[in-house]
Amino acid sequence: MTEKYTLYATMGAGFESVVSKELKNLGYKTRNENGRVFFEGSQADIVKTNLWLRSADRIKILLKEFKAYSFEQLYDEVYAFDWAMLLPVDACFPVQGRAVRSKLHSEPDVQSIVKKAIVDKMVNEYHRRGFLPESGNTFPLDIHIYKDVARLSLDTTGASLFKRGYRVEHGGAPLKETFAAGLLELTPFNGTHPLIDPMCGSGTLPIEAALIAKNVAPGLKREFSFDGFDWFDKNLHQAGVEDAQAQIKPLESDIWASDIDQSVLEYAKLNAHNAGVLQDIKFKQVAVKDFKTDLENGIIISNPPYGKRLKDREGAHKLYQEMGEVLGSYHDFSQYYLTSDPEFEKFFGQKATKKRKLFNGNLRVDFYQFWANKR
Ligand SMILES: C[S@@+](CC[C@H](N)C(=O)[O-])C[C@H]1O[C@@H](n2cnc3c(N)ncnc32)[C@H](O)[C@@H]1O
Repeated sequence: MTEKYTLYATMGAGFESVVSKELKNLGYKTRNENGRVFFEGSQADIVKTNLWLRSADRIKILLKEFKAYSFEQLYDEVYAFDWAMLLPVDACFPVQGRAVRSKLHSEPDVQSIVKKAIVDKMVNEYHRRGFLPESGNTFPLDIHIYKDVARLSLDTTGASLFKRGYRVEHGGAPLKETFAAGLLELTPFNGTHPLIDPMCGSGTLPIEAALIAKNVAPGLKREFSFDGFDWFDKNLHQAGVEDAQAQIKPLESDIWASDIDQSVLEYAKLNAHNAGVLQDIKFKQVAVKDFKTDLENGIIISNPPYGKRLKDREGAHKLYQEMGEVLGSYHDFSQYYLTSDPEFEKFFGQKATKKRKLFNGNLRVDFYQFWANKR
């Protein structure tokens, strides 16, 4: 493989500029597209971005880009790639396919033609007589065709980057870690302001805030698919981890997390413990209506219940009203609330300084922003 790769990060809709900013802060030049931010880098950069990017889902290597108007053309272009250089004979190589606004629109067909072209080439190159064991390490491939331009990529990440490795499963509705980090990056939080999540649930926002404030690389506790690539320099991951560990700094900000539900707080504490930030967050069981703080000039950020079902809506509206009365009176705090409820401002009782449309999974949500001293 060549030393420099064309790489791109993938992310949820609406977070392109956030990921691009993160990449720029890490020293890369970027180019944004819908759902992707492109940059150039070496294997060391693949390690660095997987370890450090907080709001991206995956880092992929662009292997080849070409026009694909017919299945024949698709087959030939994929076949022409030097697969033996990328995949060992026992590689397991699942192929994911997407085709949008293109002549080749059947995704299962696109996927199986690509798979067939790779298998045929490998069988030929490795003299295997039609059989590949696929019993070795995984090399996740994907083919994405948009307006007849096909992109073949290799995923260096594996399980999405939201899987930081600290979460214990429970039945709640937690924010994805990458989404929570992205929301924090849409606020002025820089690790020095007081930060409060008064409806913290499993603690995703305060935990991600503590990781940001202490400069902890979010991917420190996990493995990546590049760990299984035989041509990937094995020393780089360990070196990246050691470098990241040396950059962890003591917490300077006050981070508070509260919720009405004690049982959910126990999960939040366990998650914080697993993330190595239990001592950095002050957890407290308190209902919004009883909330009080002596802190000043901070950030309140939260993801209150949405009341999506009709029977829950009344309760959600009552809570938004309490939030307005209690939290809304802290005028020196910038406040950020994520909800899918279009009537949030009405019940909160204040007009947002700014609203940002986002998607929490498939659900359309708004990130309501009430800037300090601007309301
Ligand atoms: C959508 S969840 C928050 C999920 C959280 N962001 C996470 O990542 O796990 C909403 C939380 O609001 C809490 N809540 C509901 N009513 C409350 C109230 N009156 N005061 C404080 N917390 C409340 C619920 O217990 C629940 O944990």
